[in-house]
Amino acid sequence: MKRIVTTDVVSTDADFSADIIRWQLHFGRHALPWQNTGDAYRIWLSEIMLQQTQVAAVIPYYQKFLEQFPDVQTLAAAPSEAVMALWSGLGYYTRARNLHRCAQQVVREHGGVFSGDPAVLVGLPGIGRSTAAAIAAFAYGTRAAILDGNVKRVFCRVFGVSGYPGSKPIEDHLWLLAQQLLPLQQVDVYTQGLMDLGATLCTRTRPSCTRCPLAARCVALATDRVHLLPERKQKKAVPQRHAVMLVVLDREQVLLEQRPDSGIWGGLLSLPELADNSARQNDTVPSHQGYLSHEIEAGIARAIAPFGEPDWSTALTPFSHAFTHFKLHVTPYLVTLARRLDGAAEHGHVWYDTARLANAPLPAPVKKLLLGLDNARDLFSH
Ligand code: ADE
Repeated sequence: MKRIVTTDVVSTDADFSADIIRWQLHFGRHALPWQNTGDAYRIWLSEIMLQQTQVAAVIPYYQKFLEQFPDVQTLAAAPSEAVMALWSGLGYYTRARNLHRCAQQVVREHGGVFSGDPAVLVGLPGIGRSTAAAIAAFAYGTRAAILDGNVKRVFCRVFGVSGYPGSKPIEDHLWLLAQQLLPLQQVDVYTQGLMDLGATLCTRTRPSCTRCPLAARCVALATDRVHLLPERKQKKAVPQRHAVMLVVLDREQVLLEQRPDSGIWGGLLSLPELADNSARQNDTVPSHQGYLSHEIEAGIARAIAPFGEPDWSTALTPFSHAFTHFKLHVTPYLVTLARRLDGAAEHGHVWYDTARLANAPLPAPVKKLLLGLDNARDLFSH
């Protein structure tokens, strides 16, 4: 598990919130259409629209919605097609369905009034913990902490919090910070200030640290980690698989195997393979790579027994191919025959004219390998 790095913030840090409030009053946003209204309906509507969408995109939708649905009763009574039609283009349509359900629930169960208590709001459709706090703070001045993606970024940087902020322990830690940092007064200005800071200065790329009111206390800035925080979700390690492929040549023909319909390269022709148990799961290089061991030589003889007797074999240049869920490392061996046998058809194999390989239904990396060999005429004319 990741180590959580914190500073000495263990109780309300009045300087922190005071810095944000002062900055918001001078440099923050004050003329957004949903500001300067005590109308909880308007504030709720804006917060839902702003959940996954930027301010500039939201403004025209917010205005259209208000014209058509000026209050929660009108919205609740509207047919859902009208709500969806008006939302069309804003994306994340679950938000629109929840918006409509939420309006109906507020009318039915709360007399058409949005509560100022985040604990009540958070039970409504589409309202999570941070949105509930934002609505309560903006509409009623309730002292409640928000923590959206922008605020997580600000906190991770200012307090030098490493680890992925979407993970439970880091998120819990950030919520604790968010609560400890809440000012006793002007929670609405402070909340807007945090949002403004995250959206305009403490941006994900190219943040404007020189203009930031928190620069002097920013752990990430002091330790040159602004570009490293917040940490991104760790990608899962890609499983590594290994295969030994045989390029069995006999005169101007190469032995190909018809692959079963299911599984990788289903339905294509490909090169015959040896089961390759030589590599441990996450090694990228099998132990035999680059030379012909007795074990491989014996395996080759066994694998091609129905098709012919091997004359000589040699290792070719290994290559790798990335699939969506794993990476395949292939060690190819070139095998020529002393004598061809008749077992191909019976074992789901075909002898394929090398001159026709360019148009063969082969996986791209296999075709590349074979055409590369075909260009090395000396091998094919052996
Ligand atoms: N993002 C979420 N809520 C917001 C708000 N009230 N103002 C600006 N951006 C926001």
